[in-house]
Amino acid sequence: MLKINNMTMRFGGVVAVNKLSMEIEKGQIVGLIGPNGAGKTTVFNVVTGVYKPTEGEVFYGEANEKISQLRPDQIAKLGICRTFQNIRLFKELSVFDNVFIGGHLRLKSGLFSSVFRLPKYTGEEKKMTEKAEYLLEKVGLYEMRNEKAYSLPYGMQRRLEIARALATEPRLLLLDEPAAGMNPQETQELMEFIHDIKDEFDLTIFLIEHHMEVVMGICENIFVLDHGNLIAQGNPQEIQSNERVIEAYLGVE
Ligand SMILES: Nc1ncnc2c1ncn2[C@@H]1O[C@H](COP(=O)(O)OP(=O)(O)OP(=O)(O)O)[C@@H](O)[C@H]1O
Ligand SMILES: [Mg+2]
Repeated sequence: MLKINNMTMRFGGVVAVNKLSMEIEKGQIVGLIGPNGAGKTTVFNVVTGVYKPTEGEVFYGEANEKISQLRPDQIAKLGICRTFQNIRLFKELSVFDNVFIGGHLRLKSGLFSSVFRLPKYTGEEKKMTEKAEYLLEKVGLYEMRNEKAYSLPYGMQRRLEIARALATEPRLLLLDEPAAGMNPQETQELMEFIHDIKDEFDLTIFLIEHHMEVVMGICENIFVLDHGNLIAQGNPQEIQSNERVIEAYLGVE
């Protein structure tokens, strides 16, 4: 589903990611972990086209299409969507509108039909409304659909961001620290939720997370970055007993 080939991302003198190669199979839940500043978010930024890699390529999907030269909107249309480490919602808009907007990526009717509210658009609008309501129900936010996004507690804002991402109909969903700021109960629910949406929407999920119970609990394959270098890859058991990983996290010899 995703193949990163010898990818380096440099910012001036800083090597944020160094010669990273990794692959993600369709239908997997894959984790990306590592200490602060290891380069995790940079990997997401390269995959989603926010940055062009300094070196290397990114390939996507069954057709193994090269996406590292595409724009972010083109990559999103191909079915890669993400959430952000620092929540990015339209804070002044309602919960419903935040999800509804996500659906616009898949609109077939153009600006002309939407401005003049032609039948093609109003038909699509009705479908988008139903879809947004369904997703809100799915993430447990239906009752809050008319509230302003900013008024939601943190954990709910994170779920809203996921609902908006789902509205774009992704096939590969990237989650940057989805459990950040969640309490243990919310974190537990999030793990079940991630499993749930993976099955229902036939997703492949790539997630960055500092909560180890999330990573070890739901990821079948884990990649570990440290100072931009891939230092380990494996299943949760292998990662937990890997000496380089323990060193990177605890900073011991
Ligand atoms: N746009 C940028 N310009 C300059 N340096 C950047 C940029 N983006 C990231 N970096 C640097 O690249 C390195 C990796 O940053 P990145 O945000 O990818 O780390 P991270 O693993 O996501 O960390 P955290 O766990 O704190 O979110 C850091 O040294 C960071 O300062
Ligand atoms: Mg980050």
